[in-house]
Amino acid sequence: MGCQWMPTYVGMTKVVQLNPIRTILPIQAHSLQNIMESYKKLLLANRAWVEEKLSVKKDYFERTYPEQKPEFLWIGCADSRVPPTDITGTEQGDMFVHRNIANLVVHTDFNFLSVLQYAVEVLRVKHIVVCGHYGCGGVKNAMGHKDLGLLNKWLRHIKDVYRYHAAELEAIGDEQSRFNRLVELNVIEQCRNVTETSIVQRSWKNDHFPYIHGWVYDLHTGLLKDLAMMKPDEDINSIYRYDF
Ligand code: CO
Repeated sequence: MGCQWMPTYVGMTKVVQLNPIRTILPIQAHSLQNIMESYKKLLLANRAWVEEKLSVKKDYFERTYPEQKPEFLWIGCADSRVPPTDITGTEQGDMFVHRNIANLVVHTDFNFLSVLQYAVEVLRVKHIVVCGHYGCGGVKNAMGHKDLGLLNKWLRHIKDVYRYHAAELEAIGDEQSRFNRLVELNVIEQCRNVTETSIVQRSWKNDHFPYIHGWVYDLHTGLLKDLAMMKPDEDINSIYRYDF
């Protein structure tokens, strides 16, 4: 495997003088060479982004450097079309973020639980947002029967949501509407999963925060829909309640 046609990495100072970033750096992968080089556009865009931020506020990075105090924890889908800070107009420092396929809250997922514990106990976030989106590939596949290997294990959690709500879902004749409703029900179930952790229940008892919000993002309109809010007085199924 020769590297002779790997392109040389060239200087970027001329390219980054303009804004907005996306109009000067369109990702157009027409050829194999363009595909191989596409990652460089990210590095160039980074320089342009830094210049843009500094041109508005000279101390932009210094200001947020010392410590983070985000008010929000975002639990979202890994889908590239749902970038949390873009769609909520938040800036760096505003939001602690956890993303996975289909925004699942799995009570044995140590990655997620570590994020949750840190967000609640150390950062003391006031709001946790579980955000799903219509057109979610994870939810769509969970509705089907294709063997997807390891993904079966992850999507199984959504199949469980389907089973809990089978009566409601199967009463919906239109498949697209049923899919949309499962996206919503999945968000609500994941919010419940958050409330059923000892981490959140302990914080509710001691701090009366965080509030848990269930939202759905519409890829067609860019709008968020507010589905549910769960507060410290939420009536949790007793089997999931902890005594402290
Ligand atoms: Co998704």
